[in-house]
Amino acid sequence: MGKGRYAKIIGTGSFLPERVVTNKDLEARIATTDEWIYSRTGIRERRIVAADEKTSDLAERASCAAIEMAGIDPQLIDLIVVATTTPDQVFPSVACLLQDRLGIHGGGPAFDVQAVCAGFVYAMDIANRYVQTGGCQYALVVGAETFSRIIDWTDRETCVLFGDGAGAVLLHAAEAPGVISTHLHADGRYHELLSVPSGVSVNYEQVLRGEAYAQMQGSEVFKFAVKCMGDVVDETLTVNGIVKSSIDWLVPHQANIRIIAAMARKLDMTMDKVVVTVDRHGNTSAASIPLALDEAVRDGRIRTGQTLIMEGFGGGFTWGSVLVKM
Ligand code: ACO
Repeated sequence: MGKGRYAKIIGTGSFLPERVVTNKDLEARIATTDEWIYSRTGIRERRIVAADEKTSDLAERASCAAIEMAGIDPQLIDLIVVATTTPDQVFPSVACLLQDRLGIHGGGPAFDVQAVCAGFVYAMDIANRYVQTGGCQYALVVGAETFSRIIDWTDRETCVLFGDGAGAVLLHAAEAPGVISTHLHADGRYHELLSVPSGVSVNYEQVLRGEAYAQMQGSEVFKFAVKCMGDVVDETLTVNGIVKSSIDWLVPHQANIRIIAAMARKLDMTMDKVVVTVDRHGNTSAASIPLALDEAVRDGRIRTGQTLIMEGFGGGFTWGSVLVKM
């Protein structure tokens, strides 16, 4: 554990845009049904940003809530890591925009991490390493997305799945855990199965037409997600030498209730030990885990001293887990 320091979660926060889009609303626009969407994914509705709402706006609201819960002076924050696939601009990073919005002028590093739906576990891994090595005292770790902006709202295979939102955690260097371990992986061979196949250097004309949209081979992604997240759960237990029953909560990436249920079975957990928001949020990519965490912390389900496992899987492919004692 380096210098014997742990990254302790001292605050959580989240923010969702006001506008609710239900499956019924989508039925009116595309050839789909509430029954198809709910039975395949567990999603009933999602939140979508207003035309003038930015990823940094969502990140700011979630961060303020986390800072308020922690009860600290924001000036103490000496690292900001934002996981996002949908930054306001190509650059500067959302993390730098957020640092300015929060009025933090201490000069600590601020940067974005891009690992799509695994972004939050990647960001937690990085922030944890900063804390462990004495590189920072207070780290703000955010997952924030306006995924609706990279969705083709006429494509029924993708548009029913995603939503917008942000979640944040504040980490503080402490003598007792804290983050216990992190486990990250990637396999770039599968980059074409889940991607936005246009950008600054590829198919730029799609960007100019405002058609830089996410594409996914859903059933292939599904199989990999179940396999990879199952493996990383095993790895987390084995590396730490712990048994399944020592995990109090599963806080998974919220892409599909069937994937979440498979992970719960893997951990011999009943669904009342799993934080589920996919029904109301859809897949908010990097925001989904901190959104779920904040919900369960605030409603009193997740309590101090409990052990939880977060796990994510996303485009790249990227995947990973974080084992935390609250
Ligand atoms: N409404 C009605 N029918 C639909 C819809 C829709 N919205 N979308 C697809 N269909 C049809 C298809 O056209 C297909 O029809 P066909 O059999 O006539 O060809 C049929 O439904 C079945 O489609 P499948 O793709 O086989 O459906 P599946 O059971 O695999 O469910 C889903 C699709 C929900 C996308 C699933 O594959 C999934 O959840 N995949 C994983 C997503 C995921 O985990 N993503 C994580 C990372 S996301 C990120 O990193 C950005």
